Amino acid sequence: MKLENCIVFVTGGSSGLGAGCVTFFTQKGAKVAIADINIEAGQALANKTSALFIETDVTSRASIQNAIDTTRQTYGNLNVVINCAGIAPVQKTVRRNHESHDIDLFNKVIQINLIGSFSVSSLAAASIIESASHSNEERGVIIHTASVAALEGQMGQVAYSASKGGIVGMTLPMARDLAKHGIRVATIAPGIFDTPMLRQLPEKAQASLITQVPYPNRLGDPLEFASLAAQIVENPMHNGNITRLDGALRMGMI
Ligand SMILES: NC(=O)c1ccc[n+]([C@@H]2O[C@H](COP(=O)([O-])OP(=O)(O)OC[C@H]3O[C@@H](n4cnc5c(N)ncnc54)[C@H](O)[C@@H]3O)[C@@H](O)[C@H]2O)c1
Repeated sequence: MKLENCIVFVTGGSSGLGAGCVTFFTQKGAKVAIADINIEAGQALANKTSALFIETDVTSRASIQNAIDTTRQTYGNLNVVINCAGIAPVQKTVRRNHESHDIDLFNKVIQINLIGSFSVSSLAAASIIESASHSNEERGVIIHTASVAALEGQMGQVAYSASKGGIVGMTLPMARDLAKHGIRVATIAPGIFDTPMLRQLPEKAQASLITQVPYPNRLGDPLEFASLAAQIVENPMHNGNITRLDGALRMGMI
């Protein structure tokens, strides 16, 4: 699928990896909708890039549907979904040596990272299929954002890793479900990227993570993430796959 004039829906587009996609795809001539709860940052980026900002909470199906409908009314039928909305709180399975993990927090991480990505994809795919012409042409591409923590989560990442493992697990069946509709599904599993989420970690933890990246020995740039998302959109053989983007990082226990 060509990037020029394609209609792209980016959740979590107000910040970090999502914002990198908004910048990259608008520069390539795509029409981009930013779906995020962060109004101030999203509106500012929309003004800068000529994108459309729609206040969206991915834990609310009504909010997602409103954002999809608004995108369709503004630009036309959706082509590409990039799921970047996410949170990454740190808490161990047992904390302070005897208290159990806060189950509301665990649930919140799953609701936003996993069920949010699923709901956006399912509602967007239904919209793409409903509006598509009956040709054999490719109709859509859905990109999920997992994490290398899906496979090598560190101490304190139990909820986050569970949510990202869920994304890895749903990639292939979703690709199979949507294949006959001409919609591809692929997942990017980033290592460590220079975003507000990563920068919220204590400096010592950031430094420790960076030393674990063999080459290039630095944080990734959100535009490098966006560049892979663009290649996935452009290359029709990207389907049902999980692609690590991590500079050979294999995270240790801490
Ligand atoms: N930065 C990294 O190193 C890294 C590594 C691996 C995976 N990831 C994943 O990449 C994705 C983007 O992370 P980031 O680093 O850009 O973080 P970020 O904090 O910079 O951006 C996340 C965005 O998600 C939005 N968001 C949160 N909850 C939402 C909700 N309920 N509805 C809609 N939007 C919501 C936030 O407002 C924010 O704009 C996340 O899924 C994260 O887990 C990031």
